[in-house]
Amino acid sequence: MQTIKLNTGRDMPMLGLGVFRISDKAQCRQAVLHAIRTGYRLIDTATAYTNEDAVGDAVRQAIDEGLCTREDLFITSKVWVTDMKNADTTRRAVEKSLKTTGLEYFDLYLLHQAMNDYFSAWRGLQSAYKDGLTRAIGVSNFFPHALANLCECAEMRPAVDQIEISPFFIQKEALVNMKRYGVVPEAWAPLGGGRYHPYKNEVLKAVADAHGKTIAEVMLRWNLERGVVVIPKAAHLEHIEENYKVWDFSLTDEEKKQIESLDLGLGGQRTKHFDPDFVRMCLGK
Ligand SMILES: NC(=O)c1ccc[n+]([C@@H]2O[C@H](COP(=O)([O-])OP(=O)(O)OC[C@H]3O[C@@H](n4cnc5c(N)ncnc54)[C@H](OP(=O)(O)O)[C@@H]3O)[C@@H](O)[C@H]2O)c1
Repeated sequence: MQTIKLNTGRDMPMLGLGVFRISDKAQCRQAVLHAIRTGYRLIDTATAYTNEDAVGDAVRQAIDEGLCTREDLFITSKVWVTDMKNADTTRRAVEKSLKTTGLEYFDLYLLHQAMNDYFSAWRGLQSAYKDGLTRAIGVSNFFPHALANLCECAEMRPAVDQIEISPFFIQKEALVNMKRYGVVPEAWAPLGGGRYHPYKNEVLKAVADAHGKTIAEVMLRWNLERGVVVIPKAAHLEHIEENYKVWDFSLTDEEKKQIESLDLGLGGQRTKHFDPDFVRMCLGK
């Protein structure tokens, strides 16, 4: 497992399991436990996924079984926008997540979207960090302008910005901006999130065949080689195992160029941040 250094000085694993849309608790517990058995150490959940409790149960079981210690793991959760009214509501959301998971601390806690009063919410996360509720704080879905504004104006800079990145939405400018501020990029939907038919894509297939790897492995490897943390979601245990096999090959510059030719720009994104209807929907309006 490769790691990347955060601005806190701590290391973050570069591959993790995402558990969005695994709402069945038993299935979520099984997926997390299987991932830890396979070698994963990073698990990505959120209050909005309603499975923080199942993640906490799996973590306890893994520790009880001697698979790892709590220190070995890197557990991320996120505050949803309706709790981002002010610093107090955000801090309380972190406390509630700790209670739901049964964990003593998170390794990373994120503002889920750049919505609601996110500067006040950020102050709530800063206070949670200072009091040891979480070992790092970061943001998610902050486009470059919003991230630059936060980095320039807030007391602390986010350790991570978790954004959608796949060969269909390569986010070149976002990565340049994050590098400037020392923010680690983390890719959600690194496998396209169920869109774009990547497994039928001729470009990806040719690269995969050249290395004797699968298309999923190639998509994850491409992001890893750009210094991007990946958190593919997989409920199927064979997918969890397959996605871990990304450490034994490298892409050529020409292959990376071909993969990046699939970029659809903003048209490739799932969350419509520039659409007021989408913002109102997130805010529950
Ligand atoms: N911050 C945010 O706003 C945000 C938004 C979305 C997601 N996320 C995070 O990012 C994680 C990943 O994103 P995502 O779930 O949207 O999309 P994704 O990881 O790109 O794609 C997940 C889909 O790919 C399938 N899959 C996984 N491994 C595969 C393989 N080796 N071969 C073929 N199919 C495979 C999964 O199937 P099975 O499940 O059937 O195995 C699932 O249908 C989420 O779980 C969540 O933790 C964050």
